[in-house]
Amino acid sequence: MKVYVSRDMASVALGADDVARAFAEAGCDVVRTGSRGLFSIEPLVEVEMDDGRIGFGPVGPQDVAAVLDGSHASRLGRIEDLPFFAGQQRFTFARCGVIDPLSLSDYAAHGGWQGLEKARALAPQAVVDAVKASGLRGRGGAGFPTGIKWQTVLDAPSPTKFIVCNADEGDSGTFADRMLMEGDPYCLIEGMACAAHAVGASHGYIYIRSEYPFCIATMRAAIEASAHLVAPFELEVREGAGAYVCGEETALLDSIEGQRGQVRAKPPLPALQGLFGQPTVINNVLSLAAVPFILSEGPEAYAAVGFGRSRGTMPVQLAGNVKHGGLYEIGFGITLGELVNVIGGGTASGRPVRAVQVGGPLGAYFPPSMFHLPFDYEAFTQAGGLIGHAGITLFDDSVDMAHMARFAMEFCAAESCGKCTPCRIGSTRGVEIMDRIIGAREAAPTGGSEAVGGYLGKALYSRSPDRIDVSIEAQTMLLRDLADTMKYGSLCALGGFTPYPVLSALDYFPEDFGAPAPIKEAAE
Ligand SMILES: Cc1cc2nc3c(=O)[nH]c(=O)nc-3n(C[C@H](O)[C@H](O)[C@H](O)COP(=O)(O)O)c2cc1C
Ligand code: SF4
Repeated sequence: MKVYVSRDMASVALGADDVARAFAEAGCDVVRTGSRGLFSIEPLVEVEMDDGRIGFGPVGPQDVAAVLDGSHASRLGRIEDLPFFAGQQRFTFARCGVIDPLSLSDYAAHGGWQGLEKARALAPQAVVDAVKASGLRGRGGAGFPTGIKWQTVLDAPSPTKFIVCNADEGDSGTFADRMLMEGDPYCLIEGMACAAHAVGASHGYIYIRSEYPFCIATMRAAIEASAHLVAPFELEVREGAGAYVCGEETALLDSIEGQRGQVRAKPPLPALQGLFGQPTVINNVLSLAAVPFILSEGPEAYAAVGFGRSRGTMPVQLAGNVKHGGLYEIGFGITLGELVNVIGGGTASGRPVRAVQVGGPLGAYFPPSMFHLPFDYEAFTQAGGLIGHAGITLFDDSVDMAHMARFAMEFCAAESCGKCTPCRIGSTRGVEIMDRIIGAREAAPTGGSEAVGGYLGKALYSRSPDRIDVSIEAQTMLLRDLADTMKYGSLCALGGFTPYPVLSALDYFPEDFGAPAPIKEAAE
């Protein structure tokens, strides 16, 4: 009997290896796949039966007999029919969880290499035009149009060009890049080979964070197995070393070059002077993995889905205190509330959702009153936030938002590359301000605004901590001032966007900062 068990890192963490072993020992033909993307049903076992692949999950090694005779209580039916999957539009993740990730024949049998075949039959400019027509925007965070970036590299007059895939995936609560690379690695390789043909590059790098050992091994094996299919394009994996800032594209290039990962000033753009000073396409995993679909199905099919200027699908990742955590690929335009309450099912703790952070550690915190927001780059920017890599992290009503704001500053202080002052110094001053606000709040638990401590108790800025006005009002004003400096004075988005979580926490949850009444001023 043929059974399918995921070998994705998340599934393995939940016991999938033991389950796979137990089915193999029972004489089953076990195929290891990627994950389907709903972690509450992992370890998931799909059994090939007369009516298709029937899922059971979660299961343990002791459940083999009950699963094989079909009597197990956690019988789910066909996975595609579960509400979590039936509502999705899986353009990029269509094969993930279905095929054996390293099987070239499985990949080809499920539509693999058709995009590359089409690309190679076209002139490079026609491939770039197709990507432009699809409306694809960078999925790494900034949402920059991918086709325009490729055009710049195509037009750059150089015999040496590179394709770099950003697989650093540093945003908290995100795992889509990892899932794709572990579950469908040839899709990324195909997308990179299409990009190489489009711009005239002969070598590519995939920069993967070191915390992803399964992913690194899978990509290396896939590169070796498919080398003859993408030649003369050559690919290699480079391992990161755990710095969040190395996900920033120019710091990433420094890191590949063997230097300390530090942000470069722009211009020059990496598209013109990138890796080793050569024109370089640098794209996120999901941007590159969307390309095979765009070329095989046509840019119109991709652009037909979406909302406003956000075209195509977004693999949204639900994490944190969420009932149904996982990956949900859907066209832009779905509301934040639908994602959190309907798809995610609210919190795992069963308590009310108080806040969600969208877009990783630099994203804004939104309360339920903002759940009408459509998932769209422009709508989130207007609301003082960002979509980023589409990670949504849920918090229930036990969260202390002043502590979350402090954490944002602390994270920035720890991860700052140190190149510019607003970020390097500002983040440390931000932690100190948050400590004073939390201290004042705790000294005046009724939410008062009385100044506490400090015998002169007047100065906003002072070298002597005793002379600082530590009242909540004074420190909040200082925090806003600092946020402005960081936002407008930082060289990159690490320092520039850290104010987003801080200000959104302050604006939407003023009571956690000891403020007597909600602050009306909206986050920019
Ligand atoms: C501090 C920081 C961290 C970043 N981390 C990542 C990351 O982990 N993965 C990623 O794809 N982009 C990351 N980015 C965005 C990249 O700089 C860049 O915009 C992206 O790789 C471009 O690819 P795209 O156009 O396909 O999104 C980060 C940016 C900043 C400022
Ligand atoms: S904002 Fe921070 S991470 Fe970015 S360049 Fe400046 S110091 Fe480095």
